[in-house]
Amino acid sequence: MDLERANRYIDGLYSKEQLLRKAEFLRATALQNFTEVVDDDVARLIRLLILISRPKRILEIGTSIGFSTCSMASMLKKTGGQITTIEFDPVVAEQAKSHFNRLGYQDVVDLRVGDARNILPTLEPDYDMVFQDADKRLYPELLPDCLHLLRPGGLLLAEDSLFPVMELDTRYHALIEPINRFNTMIAESTGLFSTLLPLGDGLTVAVKLD
Ligand SMILES: C[S@@+](CC[C@H](N)C(=O)[O-])C[C@H]1O[C@@H](n2cnc3c(N)ncnc32)[C@H](O)[C@@H]1O
Repeated sequence: MDLERANRYIDGLYSKEQLLRKAEFLRATALQNFTEVVDDDVARLIRLLILISRPKRILEIGTSIGFSTCSMASMLKKTGGQITTIEFDPVVAEQAKSHFNRLGYQDVVDLRVGDARNILPTLEPDYDMVFQDADKRLYPELLPDCLHLLRPGGLLLAEDSLFPVMELDTRYHALIEPINRFNTMIAESTGLFSTLLPLGDGLTVAVKLD
């Protein structure tokens, strides 16, 4: 199956829905340099998972300009709940903050600026959902902290998990080994029930078992 054609078809089906979309979010972004944000289909699936699982506490690692944060916040406004999101780069974090204020999500989002490696150990556990989308080289290193912070029955999501089988520019080749190691850790973990969906650049969806 041609996945890009499938994505265009799915986007077309939902194009009339009054949802926050990546293209309009990027148009409203003043900053020029920032790391790529999730695609609309990934944002949509995460909103769907929020609607199903009704998380009260979400942890996001890697905010960038705040597109996925705003997408999740839009659903949490209806279902109730809060997001803690961590961003290393203060300039990018400032842009994200201005989007949270512009869209009225400042009461739903707790933005922490700093390195997730230092911030994760300071957080209180029992998050209902953890979304990993920071530096791909850190995925294996941060996994134990993510699992510690997630409550039993909670959802772990990770973006870009299909990098190892994608045709990537050579500058991304260093990310393949750590993502592959992360995927193996997830798949072989007896404490998780998981799958890897071919959505966006690959989305890991895992439930922490009791
Ligand atoms: C792929 S972007 C996040 C995109 C965002 N989740 C979205 O879809 O809208 C990854 C972000 O993680 C940040 N990052 C990388 N390493 C980090 C670290 N150690 N701690 C916190 N943030 C980090 C980068 O600065 C970058 O803005």
